Amino acid sequence: MSQALVEIRNISKKFPGVAALQDVSFTINEGEIHALIGENGAGKSTMIKILSGLYRPEAGGEIVFAGEPLREYSALESLHRGIVVIYQDFSLFANLSVLENIALGPYVKDGKRMVDWKAMREIAETTLEKLRIQLNLDAPVGSLSVAKQQLVAIACALANKARLLVLDEPTSALSRGEVLKLFEVMRSLKNDGISLLFISHKIDELFAVSDRFTVFRDGKCMGTFDEEELDDDRLISLMVGRKIEYKIFEKNKRDNVIMEVRNLSRAGQFRDISFTLNRGEILGITGLVGAGRTEVAQAIFGLNSFDSGEILLEGKPFRIQKPNEAVEKGIAYVPENRLQEGLVLGKSIKDNLVITVLKSISNRVGLVDTAKKSKLTAEWMEKLNIKPAMPDLPASKLSGGNQQRVVLSKWLATDPKILIVDEPTNGIDVGAKTEIHQILRNLAEAGIAVIVISSELPEILAIADRVIIMRRGRISAEKFCEGLNQEDILSKAI
Ligand SMILES: Nc1ncnc2c1ncn2[C@@H]1O[C@H](COP(=O)(O)OP(=O)(O)OP(=O)(O)O)[C@@H](O)[C@H]1O
Ligand SMILES: [Mg+2]
Repeated sequence: MSQALVEIRNISKKFPGVAALQDVSFTINEGEIHALIGENGAGKSTMIKILSGLYRPEAGGEIVFAGEPLREYSALESLHRGIVVIYQDFSLFANLSVLENIALGPYVKDGKRMVDWKAMREIAETTLEKLRIQLNLDAPVGSLSVAKQQLVAIACALANKARLLVLDEPTSALSRGEVLKLFEVMRSLKNDGISLLFISHKIDELFAVSDRFTVFRDGKCMGTFDEEELDDDRLISLMVGRKIEYKIFEKNKRDNVIMEVRNLSRAGQFRDISFTLNRGEILGITGLVGAGRTEVAQAIFGLNSFDSGEILLEGKPFRIQKPNEAVEKGIAYVPENRLQEGLVLGKSIKDNLVITVLKSISNRVGLVDTAKKSKLTAEWMEKLNIKPAMPDLPASKLSGGNQQRVVLSKWLATDPKILIVDEPTNGIDVGAKTEIHQILRNLAEAGIAVIVISSELPEILAIADRVIIMRRGRISAEKFCEGLNQEDILSKAI
């Protein structure tokens, strides 16, 4: 019988108008990888914010950690007890080195005044060795890839003697190889007796590493299950209360070119990229993360440059210097990293949503027509089912997945001729993916040319008419999706 490390008992959390958690109880054992899963807005992040002392639970519940109840529910208490959360924007110090990031914490905690670089180097080296990670200790953290920064954050946690490590959607920006490395590190932590709470919307990844699963639905805990008790279908039905299958949309062959990309190259990123894009179609671009898909999309949108080649828009060569010009030409680009690049957290849902269309809802002197603004917001909030339906709520108060929806709608509202979406359902729960697919399909039906970049092959096969497969910066195949299966694509991607 495994020993409980964290006993969560009858925890509730209310926000104005929302019961984010209702009487939630579950237990995390010592040395296990515990998955926490639920739809967007189910209360997962709220739960871990309580664990880390960012929020206080309502009176009546308690959390017992290593046999002793938490008393203050403060960040300091959680840190002292060994609860460490790695958020998506893992608060590292970008301009400090790997060494400083890992070793400064324990150093400061011990109350030392003088910096003993040798001792710090030792702490950092042993920690990284333990995790079997090789990193240049003197590199500034800001210069590392997201995946490496994440490993530094985990090393920090370890150096700070974490007993419970919480990872909130850690894999969304990682390549397949990086995910596997992360899993390896997670397992080695587990073998050292550390408990991990792992939040993700990627079900195959959850099954790959988790020992037990706790399922949240609408702020309530549906129970904790052993990995062997579950399969995809059962897990999903616990989460959403029904069975989910991707709807496979009808495929079309369009012949109405709006954009042509010819021999686009950029040293070190992509080479000799040529394709056409038609009005009314969804063109999928897939391949492994790191294959150059995003770089190509950004080159079209003016966020990235290219060395040679050309792009024709409606028959005329064009080259965009700034994203503004792209928007004026009717091109919209929804980045993969939507939370960092796409949202003003302090502003309301409403303000965020209309930011891209201010011109069209303002009068000649630039005054925003508030009635139009409200109408537009209501329309998109309904279309993307953004919850809670409170347009004046600051975006910071939305769950991660609902923030994603706001960014998506902000670009959809520009009524573009060409829409490029990078990983459109990243961070969106399984229940809502089909809703997003339907919206993209409707846009294509309405004559918009849509490019969908996705690593998720079932998603490409469900919605795209045509697919381009990229491998190491080049196009390795282009195919119509009708009758295509996953293996056909995979064989070209790797
Ligand atoms: N600070 C806050 N103020 C008001 N409401 C909040 C606040 N934080 C969260 N909420 C609400 O609480 C509910 C649960 O949100 P939470 O972020 O915990 O969801 P989640 O399960 O992490 O979802 P996702 O998968 O989308 O990240 C949502 O309805 C959200 O809007
Ligand atoms: Mg969340």
